[in-house]
Amino acid sequence: MEQDAGPHEVIVICVPTPLSADGTPDLSAVRSAAGTAGRLLRPGNLVVLESTTYPGTTDEIVRPILEKESGLTTGIDFYLAFSPERIDPGNQAFGLRNTPKIVGGVTPQCTSAATAFYEMICDQVVSAKSAREAEMAKLLENIYRHVNIALVNEIAMFCHEFGIDFRDSIRCAATKPFGFQPFYPGPGVGGHCIPVDPGYMSYKVRALGYPFRFAELAAEINGRMPRYVAGRVAALLNEHGKPVKGARVLLLGVTYKADVSDLRETPALPLARLLLARGANLAYFDPYAPSWTVDSTPVPSAASLSEALATADIVILLQAHTCYDLEVINQRSALLLDTRGVTRSGESL
Ligand SMILES: NC(=O)c1ccc[n+]([C@@H]2O[C@H](COP(=O)([O-])OP(=O)(O)OC[C@H]3O[C@@H](n4cnc5c(N)ncnc54)[C@H](O)[C@@H]3O)[C@@H](O)[C@H]2O)c1
Repeated sequence: MEQDAGPHEVIVICVPTPLSADGTPDLSAVRSAAGTAGRLLRPGNLVVLESTTYPGTTDEIVRPILEKESGLTTGIDFYLAFSPERIDPGNQAFGLRNTPKIVGGVTPQCTSAATAFYEMICDQVVSAKSAREAEMAKLLENIYRHVNIALVNEIAMFCHEFGIDFRDSIRCAATKPFGFQPFYPGPGVGGHCIPVDPGYMSYKVRALGYPFRFAELAAEINGRMPRYVAGRVAALLNEHGKPVKGARVLLLGVTYKADVSDLRETPALPLARLLLARGANLAYFDPYAPSWTVDSTPVPSAASLSEALATADIVILLQAHTCYDLEVINQRSALLLDTRGVTRSGESL
């Protein structure tokens, strides 16, 4: 085995790590990919797991599969490390090269080999003590977002009842040059990371005999947001003498975040289910989703934003795609619930 951390044949595993129907981690794709990698493995190779997962996966799950399939030994015959994927879809400023890359090997030699590999691709590589610390770092990043989004979502709900413009409070608080980072309320968290990854940590902590309360509370609060939005829609319609049943409701932005086409775990889906169950006449407009179905039922979409707004009793702005003309939305919405606080005329969350 080479002592220096020069170039190696490298296998990077970056497969989905979803939750099973019962909310526990589904590592079947990781196991299957590790099996394939093990059969391909040759002495001197480097294997890196990039999939987000609970601490211990690289060492306790991937390592034994690789060793069994290849007959080789980690740290002696081949290198094994964890390096979290940190891609932020739609982010124009930070990509693979200029986002620091965390690397944690199963042994120090594994860390060196993985560091040498990523230094060819990324401007900055950060070494963790081991694979476990690197796995934990990724979950910390996602749990941090989940918890802080839940915090502002919970505050937003009671601020509405108190008649406080919470976004204005956030704007003021964010002027503090130290010790504060702004997070903003929204219709619920989506994507395959924030709503899913904290569940991996909860599962691991539960094995110790107690719950990971912050992560579970964040999941409960953020998971409740679509129901809260549905309630606000009903209240707004009611104020104008309209029932939800039969109301023409337009959803603007059904992807899980602005300026991406990813629909995974989008909060628009549970919201649509709730509105349909109350008899709403649903439509959507989203240039990033040419077609959209709710439980196999297609939701109609208008040809243009103006046409979509013209036929709606109420508009719910869920994702503030930059291509939306906010002035047109301001002027042509009969009623507007703005879950992102970007319009002038809409009622904010
Ligand atoms: N995409 C992101 O922006 C992002 C950001 C941070 C972390 N992650 C993490 O990276 C991992 C992958 O996410 P993704 O969004 O790229 O996933 P994805 O759904 O796009 O799938 C990635 C690839 O895995 C392949 N695949 C699926 N099942 C497989 C199997 N059983 N065996 C072999 N290959 C299989 C798919 O064909 C696909 O090419 C997840 O753990 C995710 O949490 C992703």
